[in-house]
Amino acid sequence: MKQDDIRFFTSWFKGYVKSYSSTDEEVQANLNYKEEHSLRVRDLMLTLGEEQLDPNSMFLAEVIGLFHDVGRFEQYVKYHTFKDHLSEDHAELGLSILERHQILFDHMSKQEKAIIFTAIRNHNRLMIHESVRGNTLLFCKLIRDADKLDILEQIINFYENPQRTPYFAVENNHSDNRYSHEIIQGILSGRQITYSSVQYPADIKLIRVSWFLDLTLPTASKIAKRKQFLQRIKVFIPETDEINEAFRYVEQVLSEHALK
Ligand SMILES: [Fe+2]
Repeated sequence: MKQDDIRFFTSWFKGYVKSYSSTDEEVQANLNYKEEHSLRVRDLMLTLGEEQLDPNSMFLAEVIGLFHDVGRFEQYVKYHTFKDHLSEDHAELGLSILERHQILFDHMSKQEKAIIFTAIRNHNRLMIHESVRGNTLLFCKLIRDADKLDILEQIINFYENPQRTPYFAVENNHSDNRYSHEIIQGILSGRQITYSSVQYPADIKLIRVSWFLDLTLPTASKIAKRKQFLQRIKVFIPETDEINEAFRYVEQVLSEHALK
């Protein structure tokens, strides 16, 4: 792959997103947020990949970042939600879109295409499929970390400044103090927490806190620390002894990981 291929993919992506343009302000705002998210995740892939990837792998990382959420636009316009369980898996949808438009075809080898597909397919799973190995596994880790970092930042910015991103499809109820104890237990025992355990608005925020435990690359943890994500999200979560304990635990794991 060459820089020209990246230019081609980027201009295709922008045109593709434009094809979903809507006069409905809410729809348009959410399409814009996903487009901006895709471009930021592409940049984060380059930041996270810098230390460990050769130039050609950096191109791959860039394409994975750019296209990881390409399914989001059709998903939102078709179902009016970004919730996969209420619509369909947006990663699989994205892969079928890339196939339908034959975008990767002609620009790369079969192996490169396979890496891109596996990384996109695994970006939103609870865990990376156990059959993924070697280089492909590294790209899976990169996209999952880059995606989490940007989603966390977007959500925290929204909590802090909701008027800056109107219609952002994220709840922002900060007044309900209830939360599920099993989510705290899940965080403290390092268990993967699924959205099925969510009962209250604070639960979703606690699940996002648990994401800090899943960051795989030390550089990602360093970025999370530098941007003070934990301290900033804590402001919007009810304060109890066990929640404080969970935060202390996550902070410790994050700090140790950032030093690796
Ligand atoms: Fe995604």
